[in-house]
Amino acid sequence: MDPLFRIHTGLPRESPGGDVFTRQAFQLLPCLNAPRILDLGCGPGAQTLELARLTSGPITAVDLHAPYLERVREAMDAHGFGHRLTCLRHDMAALPFEDEVFDLIWCEGAIYCIGFAEGLRRWRRLLAPGGFLVVSDLIWLRPDPPEALRAFWAEAYPGMGSLATCQAHIREAGYRPLGHLILPEPAWWNYYGPLEARLDALDAQAAADDEALRQTIDRERREIAMYRAYGGWYSYAFFAMQVPRPEPSPDASFTVGRSFTIGEAFHSHFLGRDRS
Ligand SMILES: C[S@@+](CC[C@H](N)C(=O)[O-])C[C@H]1O[C@@H](n2cnc3c(N)ncnc32)[C@H](O)[C@@H]1O
Repeated sequence: MDPLFRIHTGLPRESPGGDVFTRQAFQLLPCLNAPRILDLGCGPGAQTLELARLTSGPITAVDLHAPYLERVREAMDAHGFGHRLTCLRHDMAALPFEDEVFDLIWCEGAIYCIGFAEGLRRWRRLLAPGGFLVVSDLIWLRPDPPEALRAFWAEAYPGMGSLATCQAHIREAGYRPLGHLILPEPAWWNYYGPLEARLDALDAQAAADDEALRQTIDRERREIAMYRAYGGWYSYAFFAMQVPRPEPSPDASFTVGRSFTIGEAFHSHFLGRDRS
């Protein structure tokens, strides 16, 4: 088995986050009535399940790795949401759907696979007018990273931006920014905690007989050590945005747009409304 999958198979999630953060990001949106959801890079499906709890419409989960899709299927069936789920093994860069067939696209910790700006650009056509896109990605929080950290992420994720560059990409791609949520430290340990336990469990095996596994374990440990040493310089952030509705014709009756509310109180540093 590929060493990466040997390490990651069975972990509860594959990016920093957690149910509470999926919920908080969802609350950046206005109230949605049974949205047709597309969950891209669903992985083991923690956010798929939470989105199912938050909504009542159909959910299409997409990933390249078939075992993840099987796991999402099992979890959704076990929780009574199976009838709402469609799984599709496909590349998120070239999706086979008609235009405007989704009301909400969700991509948690996976847009880096094709790049932030590229994902925004490619997925816009899939959203109905007024539809929403929510993505989370790695961003710099400070412009002055120590050299060891800068060099690490320059290699691991050269496209990593900042809050401002991501917000600029959102506008350039023709979306209306709705808000963002910077993930706090507990979100990271929801991911790194189980991962670190798995690395510990595999250590002896790797030392004994598997050089490729040894190298992969070392790389994962380096990433975690970077976060321990320099977590204040970067984090994941959710960004919520909307495809603008077409301008009403001059004789159309006037309607007032629904404003969105942030339902849960949490540290204001982490949450922001973005100016349109
Ligand atoms: C970091 S994981 C995030 C998974 C999940 N959303 C989570 O937060 O736990 C990224 C996921 O994207 C999938 N992936 C990578 N490249 C992809 C592509 N081009 N198209 C579809 N899925 C892809 C991987 O298999 C993996 O499940």
